Amino acid sequence: MTTSLAPQTDLDPMRTPAAAAAHRIASGTAAPDDSGGAPALSVRDLVLEYPDGERGVLRALDEVSLDLHAGTFTALVGPSGSGKSSLLAVAAGLVPPTSGTVTVAGRELTGLSRTERTGLRGREIGVIFQQPNLIPSLTAAEQLELSVHLDRDATRADRKAARDRAMALLERVDLADQAGKRPHQLSGGQRQRVNIVRALMASPALLLVDEPTSALDRERSAAVVDLLGALTRDEGTATLMVTHDHEFLAATDRTLNMVDGRLTD
Ligand SMILES: Nc1ncnc2c1ncn2[C@@H]1O[C@H](COP(=O)(O)OP(=O)(O)OP(=O)(O)O)[C@@H](O)[C@H]1O
Ligand SMILES: [Mg+2]
Repeated sequence: MTTSLAPQTDLDPMRTPAAAAAHRIASGTAAPDDSGGAPALSVRDLVLEYPDGERGVLRALDEVSLDLHAGTFTALVGPSGSGKSSLLAVAAGLVPPTSGTVTVAGRELTGLSRTERTGLRGREIGVIFQQPNLIPSLTAAEQLELSVHLDRDATRADRKAARDRAMALLERVDLADQAGKRPHQLSGGQRQRVNIVRALMASPALLLVDEPTSALDRERSAAVVDLLGALTRDEGTATLMVTHDHEFLAATDRTLNMVDGRLTD
């Protein structure tokens, strides 16, 4: 955590988005497109079963395999209850699968201890849920800087780097002039933009987004999806977005369909 926030070399992942993407490509953990290299997310034969009273088990994910590469924006659609949020939860390392593997930025999540998994999630995985879960008492800038403030080992240079990164990201989403406002002083669209860039603070390889637009009107929803696409390319993340809204699929590079826990292209 400490070192990842301190700019050290030109290839420091925190320094610039381009450097972050270049670093991932150089280190073999990502490819600039779908043409080759290790994916940012690789899922193999993933099964997730929940205990289900009389019927025994409910299979929420059924032999799911998937690769996502750096700089690509993928939509995940499918009926309610088909397993979309379950896939995101397992890919984020929040829920252990029944069987199968999840590899993020070249490291197999499923083989890590809880502490290692939390560390990897902090560095390489950004998660965005439909409702911005911002902390009411913190300003927009403080929401982004929170993890470095909670890190007891963070140096003064780490804090400065976090502040610079937070301001650059807020500027990127036209919120530089709102940096000192608390959530209740922001509009719904502004809150969602803070939520989005907060997930990008650590320059994650993988960005998992669950229905980011369901609390927004049509115009603001389109703007949020366009922004996610632009940030995916600028930051070099592999982005997986669950959406119910087929109108937004044109803004993505690829659409995956989930039906009864199975994926189809
Ligand atoms: N914690 C849980 N315990 C038991 N069953 C669960 C749990 N979470 C989800 N499920 C079941 O797993 C299946 C997949 O749920 P999931 O939330 O992944 O669907 P979804 O595709 O995200 O649906 P929606 O579009 O409504 O959000 C559903 O049948 C759901 O009831
Ligand atoms: Mg869901």
